[in-house]
Amino acid sequence: MKIGIVLTDPVDWTAERFIRGLKLAGVEPITIRLERAVSSISEITCEGLSLFDLDGLLVRDLGGGGLESSVFRFDILLELERTGIPVINPPSAIQLAANKHLSYWRLRRSNLPFPKTCVTSDISEAIVFVERVGTAVAKPIFGYKGLGIELITMERLDRIGEVIRERGVIYLQEFIPHNGRDIRAFVVGGEVVGAIYRLAPEDGWISNLSQGGTPERCSLTGAQKDLAIRAAGALGTLYAGVDLIESNDETFVLEVNGTPSGYGVFAACRVDVTRMIINLLMKRVRG
Ligand SMILES: Nc1ncnc2c1ncn2[C@@H]1O[C@H](COP(=O)(O)OP(=O)(O)O)[C@@H](O)[C@H]1O
Ligand SMILES: [Mg+2]
Repeated sequence: MKIGIVLTDPVDWTAERFIRGLKLAGVEPITIRLERAVSSISEITCEGLSLFDLDGLLVRDLGGGGLESSVFRFDILLELERTGIPVINPPSAIQLAANKHLSYWRLRRSNLPFPKTCVTSDISEAIVFVERVGTAVAKPIFGYKGLGIELITMERLDRIGEVIRERGVIYLQEFIPHNGRDIRAFVVGGEVVGAIYRLAPEDGWISNLSQGGTPERCSLTGAQKDLAIRAAGALGTLYAGVDLIESNDETFVLEVNGTPSGYGVFAACRVDVTRMIINLLMKRVRG
């Protein structure tokens, strides 16, 4: 059986666990580095292997890079799926989750509580929004790992013009006053299998583990579990890391990650989500 795993960093905790877990399931996984893929005439190959020969594909991460190369890698996954190869997460879900503007509308349409958000290329419209919410968070539409996120305060409205000149568009969201932490809920196959608080570093407000956040065990309320499950489903993910943020008595959905790291929930709760994700894939491969 030929199971591929798309990754860029083979020593990443989640990638290592995927590789180890597949071996335990009796499969020798094939590492796929999509930055080396070739799409030509009637073939898609990667380091000599025809990707159409795969029986299944796990996507750990697709890597960064420019817009064209990201679209190219997504499109390869879509083509593989189109030929009937099970790809997890489904490429359309990965694509949707990676796009903060598009996923905002999907989550809103599912009536999920989402912070007030405004996306525009118009400087004065952006200023009106910040004046309305007081303090906003600006995020790259295709951002991840808390990179490129900044606070836009009433004192620094000049940043709006700078961001729009740099990117052509600004994604702004009301700042949700929180007590230095957010929640990462892990959903696999329509169930919450674990959740962690991510504590932001002292004096910080960004709690991604890759930005110095610390994972801590978290027990979700039934309503929070329901939110996480609905958010993961709204984007069509089969498994997801759903970011939630609490303020007073309210919980908001911040985003859904279609290629999340399993490290935090393992470190804090000893729950190994990679096993569960492999089971999902293998059921589909054998299915
Ligand atoms: N509206 C917000 N209010 C307060 N904190 C936020 C807000 N949006 C994001 N953050 C903080 O920044 C982190 C990263 O934001 P997120 O939207 O999840 O983007 P990324 O894809 O980079 O993880 C969150 O985990 C949270 O700690
Ligand atoms: Mg996040």
